[in-house]
Amino acid sequence: MAATVIDGKAFAAKVRGQVAEHVERLKADHGITPGLAVVLVGEDPASEVYVRSKGKMTVEVGMKSVEHKLDADTSEADLLALIDQLNNDPEIHGILVQLPLPKHLDEDLVINSLDPAKDVDGFHISNVGLLGTGQKSMVPCTPLGCLMMLRDHHGSISGMNAVVVGRSNIVGKPMAQLLLGDSCTVTIAHSRTKDLPEVVRGADIVVAAVGRPEMVQGDWIKPGATVIDVGINRIERDGKKKLVGDADYESCAKVAGAITPVPGGVGPMTIACLLANTLTACCRANGIEEPEGLTA
Ligand code: GUN
Repeated sequence: MAATVIDGKAFAAKVRGQVAEHVERLKADHGITPGLAVVLVGEDPASEVYVRSKGKMTVEVGMKSVEHKLDADTSEADLLALIDQLNNDPEIHGILVQLPLPKHLDEDLVINSLDPAKDVDGFHISNVGLLGTGQKSMVPCTPLGCLMMLRDHHGSISGMNAVVVGRSNIVGKPMAQLLLGDSCTVTIAHSRTKDLPEVVRGADIVVAAVGRPEMVQGDWIKPGATVIDVGINRIERDGKKKLVGDADYESCAKVAGAITPVPGGVGPMTIACLLANTLTACCRANGIEEPEGLTA
């Protein structure tokens, strides 16, 4: 039987709709408009596309969007001064510094200079520690989107075997923490894992986040398992440019019970979760009860 296709595009639209409703209520009941600042240093074309898309969707849900575009040779001191200004701006509830940063800037130093309460990426060391100890935190957007899709599809994922392929700080590690928080039995595998196919065959849930095009094959998948594909890889095949995930969609879809497509799966959920996190940060900053279902 063919796998159920998990429609991330439709789900993300639903999440953005929920965020927009909450934003409207915040404005009407409290006179507060959530504000998101995005900082982009340099001219990476992919980053520029993301930032434009983020700005557009922020405005669409009724939030205030601020963009700071800095030259590629901006000094660390100037970037830290801007972050300090945003940390202290009461109209800004979320700050996102687009990564990667140019090489002369220390990413860890920059991220850890954010006010953790405004760190809507969940990359600050405080948020990483809070998530790891099961405390209230800002949760990285991509893994949060994956978790939302899994909860939506399965109801409960408690007791399931989850294998996360990939160990990045942005996706793999926080994803594992979130799955553990929902009582999965979690394995973090990666490109050096011994007999990776056999490890993946034990999984009821596979999260593919290694950054290698179509690496996870259909014959690695336990029949009926759920495949969440975080990969976004631009490849050329038969002379045509194509976007593919970290799982080989065609072979995996024949075996899996459910699968996220690329594009239209995890990708759209990331920005929806960024907006959800900004709303959450705004509610927390103002002592207002935070919306249900939009956080971990
Ligand atoms: N670059 C690629 N993905 C991300 C992300 O989720 N957040 C930030 N800040 N930069 C990124």
